[in-house]
Amino acid sequence: MSEQQPEQIAKGSRYVVAVDGPAGAGKGAICRAVAARFGFSYLDTGSIYRGVALLSLQNGVSDEEELGEVAANMPFEFRAVADGGFRAFLAGNDVSATLREERVGRQASHVAAVPQVRAALLTFQRRYGGDNNIILDGRDTGTVVWPDADLKVFLTASLEERAKRRALELQGKGETVSFHKIRDMMAERDARDESRTHAPLASAKDAHFIDTTLLTLEQSIDSVVKLVDKLVGNRPR
Ligand code: C5P
Repeated sequence: MSEQQPEQIAKGSRYVVAVDGPAGAGKGAICRAVAARFGFSYLDTGSIYRGVALLSLQNGVSDEEELGEVAANMPFEFRAVADGGFRAFLAGNDVSATLREERVGRQASHVAAVPQVRAALLTFQRRYGGDNNIILDGRDTGTVVWPDADLKVFLTASLEERAKRRALELQGKGETVSFHKIRDMMAERDARDESRTHAPLASAKDAHFIDTTLLTLEQSIDSVVKLVDKLVGNRPR
């Protein structure tokens, strides 16, 4: 076995729902709602790439082997909190807000192209949640992380719409933002995520494709809830 081959971690009898798609497609809000509704664990896999990105910025790490080490030893936890939300912790510190910064997102898409980082985080993702049913969102959760997922969804929306949503989200937090700048950065990030050699952003062949451009958040949540309902109803554990 080569060093980069990830440890084999069986799916077991739990349900795994994998939701992929580009930034701003609504994955996070939809997955949180579905997790709360069905009592599933939830992992926002982007936050672990952002965690590695933040550590690499803080410590000036750019060498690929070293980045792999950072990912393998990252003291990261994604905890459910009292208000029904989830917060990200690095070495016990709540870094949720810092992880959402645009500079961290940009750096995340660079470190995410490093094979050593992806290999280390693959193990993290397959272990996550133990025996609990889980919904996870990202770029390759249905293609690489959980090719054996029970349900796969690929969510998308037009670039304009995704940029509009992100701009509104940032404005809601009191940040001054330029729609055009957000749109251009998003397009750049999409291109990097789609064209990288390792685990590029792509829909699994057996994924349910949902375009949320013309859907409200409630309608988008509803369409995924229906799919999970069918899964859980059809196949009791
Ligand atoms: O989804 P989010 O914007 O938080 O992800 C940040 C970056 O992390 C993405 O642009 C992508 O490059 C990377 N990522 C990934 N695989 C995942 C989740 C995120 O490559 N499963």
